[in-house]
Amino acid sequence: MTETLDVIAARYSVRNFADKAVPREVLDQIADAALRAPSARDSEPWHFIFVTDPTVVAQMEEYGLATLKATDQVGYERTLSRGGKLYYGAPVLLVITAEPREGIASSGLDVGIAVGTIAIAAKALGVDSCIVASIPGAIIDRETQGPYAQLNIPAGHRPAMGILLGYEAGEPRPQHAIHPEKVTFI
Ligand SMILES: Cc1cc2nc3c(=O)[nH]c(=O)nc-3n(C[C@H](O)[C@H](O)[C@H](O)COP(=O)(O)O)c2cc1C
Repeated sequence: MTETLDVIAARYSVRNFADKAVPREVLDQIADAALRAPSARDSEPWHFIFVTDPTVVAQMEEYGLATLKATDQVGYERTLSRGGKLYYGAPVLLVITAEPREGIASSGLDVGIAVGTIAIAAKALGVDSCIVASIPGAIIDRETQGPYAQLNIPAGHRPAMGILLGYEAGEPRPQHAIHPEKVTFI
């Protein structure tokens, strides 16, 4: 159990990935962890698409930047000021798609739990990650256009969230500050 807490404490978002592939058997273990995530009413509204072809990841990044520019000027300029990258050279972009479902048992909540599970499982396997909301299909209803057409997205699904997987290049960066005052015991 202590090891689990150590892994949780060690995880942070990496935005500078090395040019090093993640072995398929490691991705299989991450997929297994993702499939074990809880979901409302055991609905498992998700599908996990591991994009490992660098050409497709690059196409998706280019398409994502163009989408951001067209839909969110502030976000686009913020991205440019941080180096103009959405996927930071990651060798794997895992796209999580889901059946849209709103309300207390929303599929977005399930996807959020799955992506958190994936980030922790990846770290336990020595793989760094960065959760990315910059998935055009999650921003606008264009999920079957551009490079998304190659992903064989299940019928009725749309991209909901992304997570980059790979290995950090260079020195580890500081983790985000924690704020104990955000916890109250009554
Ligand atoms: C739902 C969600 C969406 C996020 N989207 C992005 C993103 O598009 N790009 C990015 O660089 N980081 C993204 N992040 C990472 C957050 O910026 C990061 O988790 C936060 O700053 C805390 O830092 P840490 O993960 O290093 O602890 C996202 C995180 C979450 C949970």
